[in-house]
Amino acid sequence: MTKAQRIHPIDVILHKRDGLALTDAEIRAFILAIVERTPRKHLVTDAQIAAFLMAVFLRGLDPRELATLTAAMRFSGEVAYTEALNTFTIDKHSTGGVGDKTSLLIAPIIAAAGLAQPTPEGVPGICVPMISGRSLGHTGGTLDKLETIPGFNTQLSFPDMRDVLRECGAALIGQTPTIVPADRILYALRDHTGTVESPFLITASIMSKKLAEGLKALVLDVKVGSGAFMPTYEKSKFLAQLMVQTGEASETRTVALLTSMDEPLGRFSGNWVEVWECVDIMQGKRHPMSSDLIELSNILSGWMLHLAGHATTPEEGAELSDDILKSGAAYKAWLKIIATQGGDTTVFEDPASHHKPNATRVLKATQSGYLAAMDCKQVGWAVQRLGAGRAKPGDPVSAHAGIESHAKLGDRIEPGQPLFTLYSEDSALLDEPEQMLRETLQVSSSLVPRRPLVREVITKNNIQ
Ligand code: URA
Repeated sequence: MTKAQRIHPIDVILHKRDGLALTDAEIRAFILAIVERTPRKHLVTDAQIAAFLMAVFLRGLDPRELATLTAAMRFSGEVAYTEALNTFTIDKHSTGGVGDKTSLLIAPIIAAAGLAQPTPEGVPGICVPMISGRSLGHTGGTLDKLETIPGFNTQLSFPDMRDVLRECGAALIGQTPTIVPADRILYALRDHTGTVESPFLITASIMSKKLAEGLKALVLDVKVGSGAFMPTYEKSKFLAQLMVQTGEASETRTVALLTSMDEPLGRFSGNWVEVWECVDIMQGKRHPMSSDLIELSNILSGWMLHLAGHATTPEEGAELSDDILKSGAAYKAWLKIIATQGGDTTVFEDPASHHKPNATRVLKATQSGYLAAMDCKQVGWAVQRLGAGRAKPGDPVSAHAGIESHAKLGDRIEPGQPLFTLYSEDSALLDEPEQMLRETLQVSSSLVPRRPLVREVITKNNIQ
């Protein structure tokens, strides 16, 4: 028995309940007890884990405690030893949005930049070991979108992921039971104990999984606005600061961008339709409704290229990113990643023809004016109800459900003009989402100023 295991869970709970700072040994012992317990080895009970979570929810964690909790969770399972590749490993994480498909563009953009400048060992100069999640609540999931590509395998082991990185400069994989098992156990209990919203627990949950990828740098896209996971700007900013602090504490350069999620990003929200939109962009077809998506993807890629040393400033990085998109290099990298992970790339020759919803309905404007506001979370729930998201973990999602946006906030609209097209595989699923979308749209007679896409950038240098 190690010294750490002799710390009893009840003492850890009492200390946090009474507002004391936990020692590193206490935190590590608690997490170890969680992952090492078995039906016959009751190192810590569910009731004790729940009490610990509530104590953290109410008392919070100081930066050292948060860094230690995150590291203990990160090393609770398998971690990717990407150091062996001797390349600059970097990733992007978004706190989740509606129509947020930037990952599908960013991974091939950065891969293309890395492939263009390989290391002396012949490995791409930058690699993106991207572990993505599934749709959750009103937000979409990159994994669900990728799995609409026939044959594409997201269930790769870390050694297999390393092979794809060496070959392609990016790998797009899903969470496995052996990556950060502590988070799986904690998250399930948070869901039942009213402790999901703790910024400390969210930080440990997100950052432990990202850091398990073995990153040199991480760019975070923390959403603010009506479609954001956090309810206020201040709470999103606090979360961003905690995540930057925690990443930097584990020697991963971390930057967070607070970005607007007041309306769906880009043209489509759903699963296959989002892949289609990104393929169009990578093939050089820029639909006007995709402008915000392209801009945000270039800004985030720009930061990544800057942190990786491929651009002097993030702005120069954003220009480089757009050049990579326009030159077709990102599309070439995309085809390589998809093919290497078993996907059928012929579907990209005519992506529109693979969009096969059984039911379609167009929601039209009933008055003239300017599109002033919408509850973006409500739009996300409408997408989920069309079949694109899931009501509970494990539910199947529809490849072809979703919405197409025809207007952006601030646009002038006239009666009869299409605002959204709804897609579903079941016509019975159209009525409720149509009503939800209709109710949430606000039209104003005067021009409403647009909010900038990037509201604030948080780095280690500007955290108070
Ligand atoms: N996403 C996560 O992975 N964890 C959280 O706690 C919240 C969002």
